[in-house]
Amino acid sequence: MLLGAVGLPQFDAADVRPEQGLIGLRRALDVYANLRPARGGTVDLMVVRELVGGLYYGAKGTRADGTVFDTCEYHPTQVERIARRGFELARTRRGRLASVDKANVLETSRMWRRVVTEVAADYPEVELEHVLVDAAAMYLVQAPGRFDVILTENTFGDILSDEAAGLTGGLGLAASASLGDGGPGIFEPVHGSAPDIAGRGIANPAGMLRSVALMLEHGLGRAEQARRLEEAVEGALSGAPTRDLGGAATTDSFVAAVLDQLT
Ligand code: IPM
Ligand code: MG
Repeated sequence: MLLGAVGLPQFDAADVRPEQGLIGLRRALDVYANLRPARGGTVDLMVVRELVGGLYYGAKGTRADGTVFDTCEYHPTQVERIARRGFELARTRRGRLASVDKANVLETSRMWRRVVTEVAADYPEVELEHVLVDAAAMYLVQAPGRFDVILTENTFGDILSDEAAGLTGGLGLAASASLGDGGPGIFEPVHGSAPDIAGRGIANPAGMLRSVALMLEHGLGRAEQARRLEEAVEGALSGAPTRDLGGAATTDSFVAAVLDQLT
């Protein structure tokens, strides 16, 4: 499933927001593994974000005294399956996995760390480190080259994946794949609906085209086509960048440049 961005300011105060549809869809399809690659310069990392648990899905509400709450909940089996994904990916890459948590404060993080450590025993060829999320945010800015695979829970992954995208040219370039065990995956750009530039024909389509590449690779088993599309996008990015990258390409001319490289 190839998905566009959702959310608009006019719905910010609505009872039902478009984001709820997306969050419900992820859960209904149980696409628990969200892969968000970031590449460029010295950076070549993959954020593996748990996508169907944590704060987004825990008990939430308003108490009688007016206190509003969201709760972060994880079951060990949820952690185990995403950890396995992370290790599997790390061993096809540079063999390094940074598991990001807040184990100095949170119970869910202490359990996360324990389960990840247990799973690591099955992947002796992968080098595991545990990094606290605040430190991880700093290292991402200071020394992003040290990261290969970053494995983390839903909310931390939401935040760190935007930070990682910012390191490599911004949200316009970032793609993601959301995968379960077997069923259909969801492939979508990381960026939002960008209402500030809607309808002007200048949006950078690279994040969407790269999501198509991820769909070819992970959803359709066509790694060769994925590689060719990814290369064509890279070619267009260096030859005819869009405005967000300081160039003059429109959405249409960028897509035409990509098609040119493919034929
Ligand atoms: C993302 C987005 C979504 C999220 C929003 C739109 C609900 O920020 O995919 O990163 O928070 O997961
Ligand atoms: Mg986000």
